[in-house]
Amino acid sequence: MKTRAAVLWGKHQEWKIEDVDLGEPGPTELVVKMAYAGLCHSDEHVVTGDIDAPDEMLPFIGAPHFLPLIGGHEGAGVVHQVGSAVLGVSVGDHVAVSFIPSCGLCKWCSTGRQNLCDMGAATLAGGMISDGVYRHHVNGTPLNRMAQLGTFSEYILVNQASVIKVDDDYPLDAVALVSCGVATGVGSAQRRAEVKSGDTVVVVGIGGIGANAVQGARMNGAANIVAIDTNASKQEKAEEFGATHFFTSFDDAALAVMDMTRGNMADSCIITAGVVTGDLLGPALNIVSKDGTVVVTGLAPMAQRDVKLDLFNLSMFNKQIRGSIFGSGNPRAEVPRLLTEYRRGALMLDELITNRYTLDDINVGYRDMNDGKNIRGIIEFG
Ligand SMILES: NC(=O)c1ccc[n+]([C@@H]2O[C@H](COP(=O)([O-])OP(=O)(O)OC[C@H]3O[C@@H](n4cnc5c(N)ncnc54)[C@H](O)[C@@H]3O)[C@@H](O)[C@H]2O)c1
Ligand SMILES: [Zn+2]
Ligand SMILES: [Zn+2]
Repeated sequence: MKTRAAVLWGKHQEWKIEDVDLGEPGPTELVVKMAYAGLCHSDEHVVTGDIDAPDEMLPFIGAPHFLPLIGGHEGAGVVHQVGSAVLGVSVGDHVAVSFIPSCGLCKWCSTGRQNLCDMGAATLAGGMISDGVYRHHVNGTPLNRMAQLGTFSEYILVNQASVIKVDDDYPLDAVALVSCGVATGVGSAQRRAEVKSGDTVVVVGIGGIGANAVQGARMNGAANIVAIDTNASKQEKAEEFGATHFFTSFDDAALAVMDMTRGNMADSCIITAGVVTGDLLGPALNIVSKDGTVVVTGLAPMAQRDVKLDLFNLSMFNKQIRGSIFGSGNPRAEVPRLLTEYRRGALMLDELITNRYTLDDINVGYRDMNDGKNIRGIIEFG
């Protein structure tokens, strides 16, 4: 079958809408008719080259090239066709995608760490997880897909490990947001920073991920939620999601945190800036208290190696720095849990959507994200 999809042909280029040929789904694969796809910053990292697979890496991911690639890894839709051996989902079911597949069998899945599933090794590969074969082409050219998904497409052909069935009474735009930004942001606060009632939490960068880290801190009862964004226009939304304070610089935030904690400093600092650079780590480590935690959720360019840190302070004050992928939760448990929180009014999802776009307007959507106009932009498929 054919589908229209947003394809990136080279770094620093615009997304181009192409007619893509989809092959037949293999036994463990399915086709989903997409309803919504979120515009997460991670796809922009592919455009800028922060996420890349250099030539020497291609043999390891079994790919002839990294680009062209169908973008998108956040989204939701309705199952359209299933392979002969697909378990757990049928035609007509509503599903969220999962940018980390979960096989249920590997060491990580079987110990409650599905966000680290070994199938994640295929994230940058273009061939299907099941057999490494490409089933997406434009005029015969094989296409990679962001995180084995490529949600910027009317129909997606994916492995069953990449979808999560959800109740069909949830609005699919809300489901789409939960599949990456919400699970990642809320989990960064609840699971990785382990925010407790009465805590002081600092969140750096108020986009789709940071707004949800603020929400996670609010849901766990944080007393002070200090948002930092270099873009002052993010204040209103930060406060809507639960921030008690807002600053455009770390220095101003640090003085205020010192004041509000009587010199103890923050219990945790969650970094969700659009592009994480090494110079953010030092101030983050300084803004947390003794035994404080820094969570690094935002992505740094893959090639970045330099970080400046006060290592004496790290050990003598018993601090820790923790990375986090998918909010350090299990996608198959976390997506339904968060939707339940939405249903009972504890989690705000509708308010995250700041602009809606057609697939043809995807480049406008990413411009708006880069201009700081969005918390989350979302593509609506007709
Ligand atoms: N770890 C994961 O599993 C995971 C999942 C999804 C996204 N991400 C990453 O999280 C990051 C945020 O994604 P997003 O979609 O929310 O992006 P976004 O562009 O919507 O928001 C980023 C925000 O950070 C702000 N910002 C940029 N530099 C800053 C700085 N130095 N100090 C303070 N604020 C700054 C921007 O003004 C913007 O408001 C990206 O790097 C993305 O790739 C990680
Ligand atoms: Zn994402
Ligand atoms: Zn697994």
